[in-house]
Amino acid sequence: IDNGLGRTPQMGWNSWNHFGCNIDEMTIRSTVDALISTGLANKGYTYVNLDDCWAAYQRTNEGYMAADPKKFPSGIKDLADYVHSKGLKLGLYSSAGTRTCSQTMPGSLGFEDIDAKTFASWGVDYLKYDNCNGNGLRETVRFPRMSAALSNAGRPIFYSLCEWGVMNVATWGAQYGNSWRTTGDINNSWASMLSNINTNDQFASYAKPGGWNDPDMLEVGNGGMTHDEYVVHFSLWAIAKSPLIIGCDVRSMSKETLDILSNPEVIAINQDRLGIQGKKVRQYDNEIEVWAGPLSKRRTAVLLLNRGSSGSRQITAAWTDIGIKRGIAVEARDVWKHETVAGRLNGSLTAEVAPHSCKLFVLTHVGRQQ
Ligand code: DGJ
Repeated sequence: IDNGLGRTPQMGWNSWNHFGCNIDEMTIRSTVDALISTGLANKGYTYVNLDDCWAAYQRTNEGYMAADPKKFPSGIKDLADYVHSKGLKLGLYSSAGTRTCSQTMPGSLGFEDIDAKTFASWGVDYLKYDNCNGNGLRETVRFPRMSAALSNAGRPIFYSLCEWGVMNVATWGAQYGNSWRTTGDINNSWASMLSNINTNDQFASYAKPGGWNDPDMLEVGNGGMTHDEYVVHFSLWAIAKSPLIIGCDVRSMSKETLDILSNPEVIAINQDRLGIQGKKVRQYDNEIEVWAGPLSKRRTAVLLLNRGSSGSRQITAAWTDIGIKRGIAVEARDVWKHETVAGRLNGSLTAEVAPHSCKLFVLTHVGRQQ
């Protein structure tokens, strides 16, 4: 969609993965403060997104959606002002249905124009639009309606389609929105994380600046995976040009979690201006995979993944698999170790990778093979 937004995958935070329906204005304000004090905001995590359960059960007598008066007594406009005063942007949530998934809020089906204008008048910058209670109408009808309403709302609003990958959304999502979900909900487990990114991988060719495949929000820091598994999670999301929407409680996260989420070299892979989604380019067996994608300035991102639990494995990325021409020599930088591998590499890169772990490199062309 041509609204000028999402030229690189969106970055921010969303309430759902950690808080579910348990949100209120103090939680959101203190999250904003933590995004700033931890430095995450400076790394590019700009959107602060409320998910389901922020609104009052009923519309007002005039038909407007309103904030839940107990959870958000100061209202959404006031919250948006606070978020903007800190240099960040506010995201809101609704559903392309009669009610949202939690059933605690009205949905926007049939109220697209009035809701889009209300959100714009509050200063909302982002809308996540869910898919519950669609009243038998197809996604290809319900999601475009909100797209049209947002483009008439008088304010640029990032439009995140949350239609769970139905109806081949990747083939039409970019016409209407800035990102579209390619999968069902992620949960805080290794299996769910890998399953989502694998499904998402099939649609790689549809991602481009302005419109991104969305394998769902990050679980990094929520406790269901090991440190190495979260490194894999963040690395895969980065190389696949997925939205980087933090889903943990940033007010109390560990140093390990913060270090993963704020690694500038990994974020730079995700935010590279070419905007080409990296994909799985080689599967050696059930355990070993190579993912790769081109970056600007004749560089290539390469991820070596050991999904197995049996032991460390040597993994090779061959130039023919990762799209580097024969005869090109490269320098390899390990972006988790922050170290450049000694010497020039010709033809392939091999590294040892521990179980349930990965290595992530940026290769830079340095000339012809000698
Ligand atoms: C389903 C979505 O896929 C989730 O991300 C979340 O928004 C919930 N609905 C909220 O009810």
